[in-house]
Formats: sequence, structure tokens, C-alpha cells
Amino acid sequence: DEIDILEVDRIVESIGRDSASVIPVLQAMQKTFKFLPEAALRRVCEISDITPAQIEGVASFFSQFRRSPVGKHMISVCDGTACHVKGSEAVYYSVLKDLGIKDGDTDADGLFTVQKVACLGCCTLAPAVQIDETTYGHVRTDTVSDMITDFIE
Ligand code: FES
Repeated sequence: DEIDILEVDRIVESIGRDSASVIPVLQAMQKTFKFLPEAALRRVCEISDITPAQIEGVASFFSQFRRSPVGKHMISVCDGTACHVKGSEAVYYSVLKDLGIKDGDTDADGLFTVQKVACLGCCTLAPAVQIDETTYGHVRTDTVSDMITDFIE
């Protein structure tokens, strides 16, 4: 993967080289690269006291960290209680099916990444789905396709 190594150096320099900085460093990298590129993680280990084992531990413990690139658009299917009882699981699987991808993954064109999220804070719209900044309410498995089409240019 092509990444700007200097960007990694800047992050480590501004946050800290000691192993206690592992979480803030990974958070800053994810903010910059939208995920944690392998090359960037290798670089962090080269220039700091942070070890590959510490990175593995932190990155696998916190689900906020992504190991693979995300798509241009993020589809967040709410899986909070209200949405769950209104069929969010079925909505989630129709989204995956529509995009032809598997669990929490990115489609082949790199256009969409799908994730399940906790309550989006609009339970009266259950089941709710958010694509980027747009919230869709009362989503049905048969309207999923139209919703996604809005974002395909
Ligand atoms: Fe889905 Fe609250 S549970 S918006």
C-alpha cells in the first residue's frame, strides 16, 4: 500500500515514542489514513518503542481500528435495540447482498464499507441506516437497493 511515511513520522513525533503512546498513535494514524496500513504500522515500530505485539493487542481489542482500507462511503446499519426488534439484521444482510460483500467489509470497487453500529439516536425511525451523513429511516429490505443507488455516481 502506498502511504506517506513522513506522515507516520510526524504523528509519532507529535504524540510520543514511548510504548504508552500506542493508542493515541494508532488513533491518529486511523484519522489520517482512515485505516491502519501495514506499512505505517511497521514504520511506527521502527521509530518508536512500540512493539508489533503491542500494536496487535490494541488493534484487535478496539473495534474502532480498521486493518483494511475503507470505501468511499460508509454504510452504518443501526443494530441498537429498537432497530434490532424492527428487523435491522435483515436490513444488514440485504445491504451486504446488494453490494455482494461479506460481513463488515468493503465492496470490490472500494465504494462502500458496511458496518453495524450501536443506536444512531433516532429510534423512532427504526430500523435506521446512515450512509455518510444521511440518515434513512424505516428502511426495508426491498428499499435497500434504492438507498444505495443514491450514492453511486
Ligand atoms: Fe437504532 Fe436507536 S436503536 S436508532
